[in-house]
Amino acid sequence: MAKGRDDQQFPEELTLALRSAAVVTVLTGSGVSAESGIPTFREAQSGLWSQYNPQSLATPEAFYQNPRLVWEWYTWRRELIQEAKPNEGHESLLTLEKFVEHFNLITQNVDGLHQQAGSSDVIELHGNILRSKCTFDGETFYDIALQSDNLPGCPSCGNLLRPDVVWFGESLPADEYKRALLAAQNCDVFFSIGTSGVVQPAASLAHEARHYGSLIVEINLDDTPLSTIADFTIHGPSGTVLPDLIDAAFRK
Ligand code: OAD
Repeated sequence: MAKGRDDQQFPEELTLALRSAAVVTVLTGSGVSAESGIPTFREAQSGLWSQYNPQSLATPEAFYQNPRLVWEWYTWRRELIQEAKPNEGHESLLTLEKFVEHFNLITQNVDGLHQQAGSSDVIELHGNILRSKCTFDGETFYDIALQSDNLPGCPSCGNLLRPDVVWFGESLPADEYKRALLAAQNCDVFFSIGTSGVVQPAASLAHEARHYGSLIVEINLDDTPLSTIADFTIHGPSGTVLPDLIDAAFRK
């Protein structure tokens, strides 16, 4: 196990591997946005929403049973996200992209903060909370909010809109998942950052990468189920560990 900023020591094997990697693939989870003030997925409930379990709201069943409740929850989460700014973790990934020949960024986050930091080609496995999708034909729209009286309707056909995120029990967008799988299978170093690594199939990407011979590096506050297969687990906040690791690998 390595440490972050406190002692700034990263194993040489890790910094050398990163410096010599031709392809780096990164999978991020909600921990990467924690330092932007967005609660992680499993800690996301506060105030009025603390009585609800996110796993019971983020389902198609919950939406069809009570679309207003689910829309109100997503509206609350959207507002938190719209006030947030990318942090040093998001920005460091942009720096890392510039240092390596091929860089793939896969995220489970729906907040769009990687794109706001400047990352241009982000594979969004779980959709984007700022986008809405027609429940009839799947057409997508930005900037449509819940009105006080009416549920949001599709501007094209008038059917009910839903947040364009992946809910429990739903499949991932096929193209994004295919790209993510290829990126995991064809990299020299695979990072799993700020994710509890318990939600499939995203969690299996690290296993794929390992199976295909990649070095696995985890950055998280705590151990996760992925720690057992990681070559290096670095404990610390990604907004601190990532810039330090990039400095240690490329600037020293
Ligand atoms: P979780 O809430 O499950 O896990 C967040 C992880 O981030 C935990 O392991 C924390 O220890 C870690 N963490 C917190 N702050 C951190 C920091 N500053 N730096 C580094 N790590 C930190 O969130 P996810 O793993 O993203 O999917 O959850 C994955 C998916 O589960 C979500 O995308 C969501 C949910 O199902 C859908 O909604 C489809």
